[in-house]
Amino acid sequence: MEHIQLKPFPNDFLWGSASAAYQIEGAIAADGKGPSIWDTYVQQPGTTYKNSTGEVAVNHYHRFKEDVALMAQMGLKTYRFSIAWTRIYPQGSGQVNQAGLQFYSDLIDELIAANIEPIVTLYHWDLPQALQDKYGGWASREIIADFVNYATTLFKTFGHRVKYWVSINEQNIFTTFGYLRAQHPPKLSDEKLLYQVNHIINLANASVINAYHQLNLGGKIGPSFAYSPQYAYDSQPQNALARLDAQLMQNDYWLDVYMTGQYPICALEYLRTKQCAPDIQAGDMALLQSAKPDFLGINYYQSNTVAFNSLQGVGLGKLNTTGQKGTTSQEGVPGMYKRVKNPFVDRTNWDWEIDSQGLHISLRELTNKYRCPLLITENGLGAFDKLTSDKKVHDDYRIAYLANHLLAVRQAITDGCQVIGYCTWSFTDLLSWLNGYQKRYGFVYVDRDEQGGTLERIKKDSFAWYQHTIANNGSNII
Ligand code: BG6
Repeated sequence: MEHIQLKPFPNDFLWGSASAAYQIEGAIAADGKGPSIWDTYVQQPGTTYKNSTGEVAVNHYHRFKEDVALMAQMGLKTYRFSIAWTRIYPQGSGQVNQAGLQFYSDLIDELIAANIEPIVTLYHWDLPQALQDKYGGWASREIIADFVNYATTLFKTFGHRVKYWVSINEQNIFTTFGYLRAQHPPKLSDEKLLYQVNHIINLANASVINAYHQLNLGGKIGPSFAYSPQYAYDSQPQNALARLDAQLMQNDYWLDVYMTGQYPICALEYLRTKQCAPDIQAGDMALLQSAKPDFLGINYYQSNTVAFNSLQGVGLGKLNTTGQKGTTSQEGVPGMYKRVKNPFVDRTNWDWEIDSQGLHISLRELTNKYRCPLLITENGLGAFDKLTSDKKVHDDYRIAYLANHLLAVRQAITDGCQVIGYCTWSFTDLLSWLNGYQKRYGFVYVDRDEQGGTLERIKKDSFAWYQHTIANNGSNII
């Protein structure tokens, strides 16, 4: 719908930015930290762009005060970051590492002193390697108790200072990349295992949400999910069905479980036919139904346009991790759908479709279906940024991207969606898991590339723009 006038952003709107431990911290063995599956995975040659690793990352671990000072200067209202499980429990369970807790305690204090609300992600992909070795990580139900134990340590230690918790980040991405596409650890391609592991993660997520609620700490908890609205290529009925299938297997399969405790009927039937359905044991569904997220975190980067794909059609394809535009190959799920180019939108150098209206559509779809508060936990543009000789970065393309997406948020709020905050991805430049350091997302340029650098922080043009936007509570977003 088109509006005569847009509603303002709420006064308590959480204007934020986000990051994840492995992508910024570095210091991978400091102060007793144990290795994570990412620390070991990136040691295998050829797994990441130019073999880039998070060994140093942008050294946030040692420079967090400088980073928080920049956030304070910007006027950020919230900062979402993740805690590395291996700093708290180097072996995944057992003896807690006080030095690890201290690091995050200091970070939280620094944020609160700067009037920045911390949003803490419990799990952003860096599973303790020890748990992977001990029982196969997420493939074993043993992990549920270990994840609850780790999370409970955080709730009890930080629960009076942290009021927003993200339980699990992008379960849909790390499971498919780890267990089907073989591009994340544990680098497997086993569809049956994918859905089995995913079910166990659902149980772990529900258990942690319940554990948090039982502690009555008065804050909120929810998962963050990589949501792409699905568009049919055209009005051919078979493409409309392909859209429905993509919605089912890309979105509903996860979100229905989070929000209603049920797997969608047609998805389970499809997986049973393929002999890939998860092993659902007595009590599992009751557990899933008992856990109620307080909000749904949405990571939005792009929409997805699909057409019908026959049983003989295309399967998994190759992703563009180099930034050479146009190198993503077509892919799909035989018998269901295949991804096609949307002729109405532009693309980034990594072939991600730039579609701000897709965010408006997403917020509407999610509000209609789940009637819950929504927190945008990530949104941003990965780009090649150029540092000029006078140390400036003129990232007007990022400003345009963020302004358009914020307009979509404002339109959704006007439509009645309850959006409580918006975190850009990311605050400083950081390591993009598979795409190295050259794919930059931040408001703050970090002087480093795949080989290294001085790690100096330099404010990009988008820094001042977001600072102005926050100061005006988004009234410039029109
Ligand atoms: C999300 C993740 O998938 O998108 C982030 O939660 C990630 O950790 C971001 O960095 C952007 O993806 P990429 O592949 O460009 O780094």
